[in-house]
Amino acid sequence: MKKIVIIDGGPRKNMNTAAMIGAFSDGAKSVGEAIEVKRIRLYDLDYKGCYSCLACKLKDSKFRDVCAYKDGLTETLRETAYADGVVFASPIYYSRVTGQMESFIERLTFPWLSYNDYSLTPPKRIPAAVIYTMNDPTAERRSLQSLEILLGGFYGEKPERVAACNTYQVHNYDLYDMKSFSTEKKEQWRAEHWEQDLRNAYEAGRRMAEKIIEIN
Ligand SMILES: Cc1cc2nc3c(=O)[nH]c(=O)nc-3n(C[C@H](O)[C@H](O)[C@H](O)COP(=O)(O)O)c2cc1C
Repeated sequence: MKKIVIIDGGPRKNMNTAAMIGAFSDGAKSVGEAIEVKRIRLYDLDYKGCYSCLACKLKDSKFRDVCAYKDGLTETLRETAYADGVVFASPIYYSRVTGQMESFIERLTFPWLSYNDYSLTPPKRIPAAVIYTMNDPTAERRSLQSLEILLGGFYGEKPERVAACNTYQVHNYDLYDMKSFSTEKKEQWRAEHWEQDLRNAYEAGRRMAEKIIEIN
């Protein structure tokens, strides 16, 4: 059995990011029973970002694979480090992934960075993907590219990106003070893009699962 871990960095259980994760997961599972998909919601866990204890940088440290600090994230860090595929899924907040996701990525990857030669060595190099959902009509942002370059450094190639843009932030815009958004334009965009966004996520899930089976 090969395992894909999907890290859900969003707070909302049934909105856009959750739907994209669901589609990715369905696509991965469609490849067959050899693929297990586990979704982990960061907002359900009690943890913080890197504590800068530097236990992972001690000479002959035992903590080169998984962060030494023990808290609500420890088991998830272990599962992600030793998974066969990984997905970082997040709504975009202020042009970046959420704070929970940023903190998670610090804790996951800092042990893998060598301060001897700046090499980036995770315990396993596995296929990686990012899923973003956002209000903006395009995901082309330097902050997101930097994140993907960083993850690509660890995993050997840039993660595949799947994005859903101009999402419904709320179901009924009439109830909110959100004059910058026109309900009609949101509806039109959704009618034209949302099903395709979900299909893209499904296909990305299928591709990741196929790749995992091929390389193992
Ligand atoms: C605190 C906050 C900041 C946000 N900042 C951005 C932003 O910088 N750019 C953007 O396109 N959307 C931004 N959004 C909108 C969300 O990214 C978008 O609604 C997303 O699809 C929400 O995902 P969800 O439905 O899974 O919660 C922001 C939303 C919140 C709550």
